[in-house]
Amino acid sequence: MKTIPEITIQNCFTIPVLGLGTWEMGGRSSADKSEDNKWIHAIEFAIESGIRHIDTAAIYGAGHAERLVGQAIKNFDRKNLIITTKVSGDTLQFHQVLRSADDSRKRMGIDQIDLFLLHWPNPSVPLGQTMSAVNKLLEDRSVKYFGLSNFPVALINEVGFYTDAPIITNQLEYNLMNRNQGSYNQNVETEIIPYCLKKGVSITAWRPVMKGDASAIIYPLLQSLAEKYDKTVFQIALNWLISKPSMLAIPKMTSEAHIMQNIDATQFEIDQDDMLLLDNIKNTSDL
Ligand SMILES: NC(=O)c1ccc[n+]([C@@H]2O[C@H](COP(=O)([O-])OP(=O)(O)OC[C@H]3O[C@@H](n4cnc5c(N)ncnc54)[C@H](OP(=O)(O)O)[C@@H]3O)[C@@H](O)[C@H]2O)c1
Repeated sequence: MKTIPEITIQNCFTIPVLGLGTWEMGGRSSADKSEDNKWIHAIEFAIESGIRHIDTAAIYGAGHAERLVGQAIKNFDRKNLIITTKVSGDTLQFHQVLRSADDSRKRMGIDQIDLFLLHWPNPSVPLGQTMSAVNKLLEDRSVKYFGLSNFPVALINEVGFYTDAPIITNQLEYNLMNRNQGSYNQNVETEIIPYCLKKGVSITAWRPVMKGDASAIIYPLLQSLAEKYDKTVFQIALNWLISKPSMLAIPKMTSEAHIMQNIDATQFEIDQDDMLLLDNIKNTSDL
């Protein structure tokens, strides 16, 4: 089994740079139980292959993704796994946050959530109220650490007023082909990431392999680097990401081939010159 490199965040939380995403396992906005075995097998195969971090959320399949995670992890040593889940931005009032964490723990059959994220900000709920609930969850140990998702600079800063606990991560839409135009945030690469790094907050890149978008394969730069390193274009894109400071990636991967390829993508280095070429891409015509 290959060991995935790890980083330590805020001097307290050590996590592998590659984890497993679970969006669309077990449904989207409602539960779809028709392929449960497929998803459970994928999660089990990922863990057997060396994945230790699983990312899920209360809203994925209306809680069903969490149930599948719970099913899949029950035969593994819980101590070796890091489970991230998220409370929906639509349920950020004090009691809703407590309830969401409790429901998530029950669905997954775990006593403690390792990393609990606010899925997206909600301007209609005072952040202080939401953070009081997060502080309570941290105090009573139902949650070990907390973080954010899709948060802009001003709100990351505001969170700091309401807690002494470290912000472990900000989950953002970020990949080689989409640097600044996320569906929740603009200026991801130019503003939010530099601010997070300054504050010691890691970035968790969501949609890290561009949904496996086959059009990536046609770009000459990516193609030539894939040939040079004997990797797929998605392995190049993933390696570029996780080579960045304090950067985690959580591709959703269900095929065994993708799981193996993505783990393999953490095991090589792209030369500095080639990294620069990839860094300097401003839009897809540069690829
Ligand atoms: N915080 C948020 O608001 C937010 C939003 C969206 C997603 N997320 C999280 O981020 C995770 C990842 O995002 P995502 O699922 O939207 O997109 P993604 O991980 O970029 O793409 C997943 C798709 O890419 C395919 N794939 C995986 N590895 C590949 C490889 N090496 N080569 C070619 N194709 C590959 C997968 O296929 P197979 O499944 O067939 O292997 C799947 O169809 C989610 O699952 C979720 O946990 C968070």
